[in-house]
Amino acid sequence: MDKSVFDKVIDRTHMSSAKWNRYSDDVIPMWVADMDFDSPNCIKTAIQKRVEEGVLGYTMIPESLKSILVNHCQNAYDWQVEANHLIHLPGLVCALHLAARALTSEDDSIIVPGPVYYHLTKAPELANRHLESVPLLIENSVESITEKAIDNMSEKDRWVIDKEKFETACAAKNAKMIMLCNPHNPGGTVYRREELEEIHALAKKYDLIIVSDEIHCDLILDDQKHIPIASLNEDAAQRTITLMSPSKTYNVAGLGYAFAVIANNQLRTQFNKARQSVVPDPNLLGLVAAEAAYKDGEAWRQELLAYLRKNREFIKNSLKDLPLKMASSEATYLAWIDASELNLDDPYRFFLEAGVATSSGSDFGNSQFIRLNFGCPTSIIEQAMMRISKAISTLDKT
Ligand SMILES: Cc1ncc(COP(=O)(O)O)c(C=O)c1O
Repeated sequence: MDKSVFDKVIDRTHMSSAKWNRYSDDVIPMWVADMDFDSPNCIKTAIQKRVEEGVLGYTMIPESLKSILVNHCQNAYDWQVEANHLIHLPGLVCALHLAARALTSEDDSIIVPGPVYYHLTKAPELANRHLESVPLLIENSVESITEKAIDNMSEKDRWVIDKEKFETACAAKNAKMIMLCNPHNPGGTVYRREELEEIHALAKKYDLIIVSDEIHCDLILDDQKHIPIASLNEDAAQRTITLMSPSKTYNVAGLGYAFAVIANNQLRTQFNKARQSVVPDPNLLGLVAAEAAYKDGEAWRQELLAYLRKNREFIKNSLKDLPLKMASSEATYLAWIDASELNLDDPYRFFLEAGVATSSGSDFGNSQFIRLNFGCPTSIIEQAMMRISKAISTLDKT
């Protein structure tokens, strides 16, 4: 079979890589959400061209980038966005924290379905807001998932929001904001239109602001379309802060660029006021990369998705022979794996000692899970799965 460009193993150990330089050289790093792939040529060429111009001073947001983002939202998600509703940021995490601080008050509660990417829960906590966690369930199961094994979880199942608990949280007197992660990290859920409509209906009924982290929206592996919750209707647009970035999809997280879409004038003004002089402008090269990615990166993205699907399949097949379970990971390159059947105090530590650094489930809200990043050459996943399987087999014998 022809080799894919994504098969190339790139040595990142000399690159001050957060992923590769955190653990010792004999550990395979499969934790933080960046990929071990070369950036697409269109991005590298655009950056090289800009660097050759030599002067790298303060920079305005190019009009060309604004129109590319507007076109991208229209073409990719059928979502009409106005250029002056865009806010350009050096990253997405700061926007989650800013939104919590600028758009809610100390007595307010912020509703966060989880386990979830930890900054969605940290944002309310660090802002001294009340964090109202709502569990995700395996669709069609009756029990919420706590620290127990999920007996009937299979690769066909999806993680969905516990509707009853969600409505109760929304109805609370001090409820003010919902923080959503769509597609969901770490569960991989791509929320369907009906699910988003239900979330929006409650937000409308109880007058809540929605902050929607959609950073993984161009990494959908199944045959589903990403639907920004703000695109549902005018009311949804008026109460939503949508956060997006090319950083995950095009593997340019180190360049520092993300954007928010805020159609509501009052929310946008409040957000901007809190941002000014505190959050710096985006990195010049991040702007260049974003423009190149959305303009010329589509063919590369399609190849990437095909490769990630193959990796996901490889992991699913490997898990079949192991006491590890994973629901359907409809999007992202992150596998959210239930290790509770192993009866370990700390599955993350166990696999780390076996030479595979995953992300600990406790970072997201369930320590019996691990999150495994499969955005790397398949050969690396093969080695990691061999180590995982060998470690589990020694466990059987004790
Ligand atoms: C859901 C989610 N939001 C935000 C981020 C980080 O965003 P940024 O690097 O732009 O701050 C990540 C990174 O993994 C993520 O998974």
